[in-house]
Amino acid sequence: MKALPAIEGNHNLKNYEEAVQNFDWEDVRKTFSWHKTGKVNLAYEAIDYHAENGKGEQVALYYSDARRDESYTFAEMKTFSNKAANVLKEANVKKGDRVFIFMPRTPELYFTLLGAIKIGAIVGPLFEAFMEGAVRDRLEDSGAKVLITTPTLLERVPFDDLPDLETVLVADETYEDNGPFLQLNKRLQAAPSDVAIEWVDREDGLILHYTSGSTGKPKGVLHVHEAMVQHYHTAKVVLDLQPDDIYWCTADPGWVTGTSYGIFAPWLAGVTNVVRGGRFSPTDWYETIQRYKVTVWYSAPTAFRMLMSAGDELVKQYDLSSLRHVLSVGEPLNPEVVRWGVKVFDKRIHDTWWMTETGAQMICNYPAMEIRPGSMGKPIPGVEAAIIDDRGNELPPNRMGNLAIKKGWPAMMRAIWNNEAKYQSYFELDGWYVSGDSAYMDEDGYFWFQGRIDDVIMTAGERVGPFEVESKLVEHPAVAEAGVIGKPDPVRGEIIKAFIALRQGYEVTDELKEEIRQFVKTGLAAHAAPREMEFRKSLPKTRSGKIMRRVLKAWELDLPTGDLSTMED
Ligand code: WT7
Repeated sequence: MKALPAIEGNHNLKNYEEAVQNFDWEDVRKTFSWHKTGKVNLAYEAIDYHAENGKGEQVALYYSDARRDESYTFAEMKTFSNKAANVLKEANVKKGDRVFIFMPRTPELYFTLLGAIKIGAIVGPLFEAFMEGAVRDRLEDSGAKVLITTPTLLERVPFDDLPDLETVLVADETYEDNGPFLQLNKRLQAAPSDVAIEWVDREDGLILHYTSGSTGKPKGVLHVHEAMVQHYHTAKVVLDLQPDDIYWCTADPGWVTGTSYGIFAPWLAGVTNVVRGGRFSPTDWYETIQRYKVTVWYSAPTAFRMLMSAGDELVKQYDLSSLRHVLSVGEPLNPEVVRWGVKVFDKRIHDTWWMTETGAQMICNYPAMEIRPGSMGKPIPGVEAAIIDDRGNELPPNRMGNLAIKKGWPAMMRAIWNNEAKYQSYFELDGWYVSGDSAYMDEDGYFWFQGRIDDVIMTAGERVGPFEVESKLVEHPAVAEAGVIGKPDPVRGEIIKAFIALRQGYEVTDELKEEIRQFVKTGLAAHAAPREMEFRKSLPKTRSGKIMRRVLKAWELDLPTGDLSTMED
């Protein structure tokens, strides 16, 4: 697919090359009021600072779901997060204590998360779909002292097995206090509206996000207050936020996108943030954009693909003309999806690459930059990325290798909770953080994702990136989703096997199978065409939308599937 030209306009980042040359993180640090004292609190900078500096009456949060429809100004967010801070103080929460939040998106989630940060606690958001085992693993490992949850989810909290857990705050107006189980709502109402902010060091703990690797239990990735420097910087140069923007990030705070970019980045930049509760539904999502006149929209390839299969006619029923800037994260953004975005929204979808561990965006497409569909873009000013071999040598352009980052960026994780060895394993190649992704860089410095290191397929001596095959497969009109793995084969080493979910209205027939095979064969390469295909209603995905190839592989080889706690239900 041909490149899409840069967008004209008054962008925060006008000239990428120039910005890279002149960049200094210290200049970003100076934009914060804490620059002089050295003491900091992210929640103060995100909320109170704006409430006290001319934005008190501006809407900070538009919240809606099937039952609630509310909005809160920066001044109100300050009050409610202060109240939450006081409720947590009553529960004896001190600096460094872990406060976990296990509930669906509601305003109370945002109040308590910010309130916990205000008093120096480390917050741990848990996705609402977690079942008991996943909840236990995380609360146990983190030694959480307080949990905030709902009556429904409370059933999945094995309180008696968790000796560190002292108090459970239950968000429900009718909940009756019962020993350590206390109603949150009435306490929020009664709590004082002022609180003394806990000024912490920039390197003090802020948030724990659990993420699963290919082996072992989920690991707790720790981020610190200093991360705000990068959240703010990327809010400006990547999200391109302007003061009057209405911003919507569709991710849940149970995942890093939902905190770094659903809470921190937009509020550090002082813009109005939209939160739509409830499940994904195309009509609901288009309505949300239309109703709030969303200008900047950050979502994920799976969501875009689901919108795509809901049809172009649906898009036409809504006025989405407010949209100015659309972004994507979490998995490869297929060129097919970029093409669709241009067709139906008249917008380029800007891919961004980063990880739970990196804490913030790292390699991105910018408004003022030519987009090469299928590429993740270029490193943000302030980040140095390279493709290295297994010894840490930088590879020349167009050679596939390990995607690595020069150590030391503000939002980098500072620990794996209780697991120093695991933390160190990311930095085994001197000076580099090794991402676990394979990629290559072209002559012009654009990065191209190839797969997770262990997913790359070797078939008859040819290297095949599963993403390339999946991208081609989803271009076929019958294919809604595709996941591709290497299946061990005595002759070819591996053969390519595709798991496919068909779009509505299509049925599996021998003709269709052969047509799909030919489609890849002729559209990509003969050796890249799947030799085997299996059809499923849907494919296993993480909540951030990645097809879980390791689950497909486990199905295929009849092996245990491992930790499934991050799988979408
Ligand atoms: C992995 C990290 C932090 C965002 C949510 C996912 C994959 C992420 C892209 C992209 C291709 C991507 C990588 C990465 N990934 N963004 N733009 N293109 N792959 O965070 O769950 O920690 O996963 O997601 O494989 O290593 P995560």
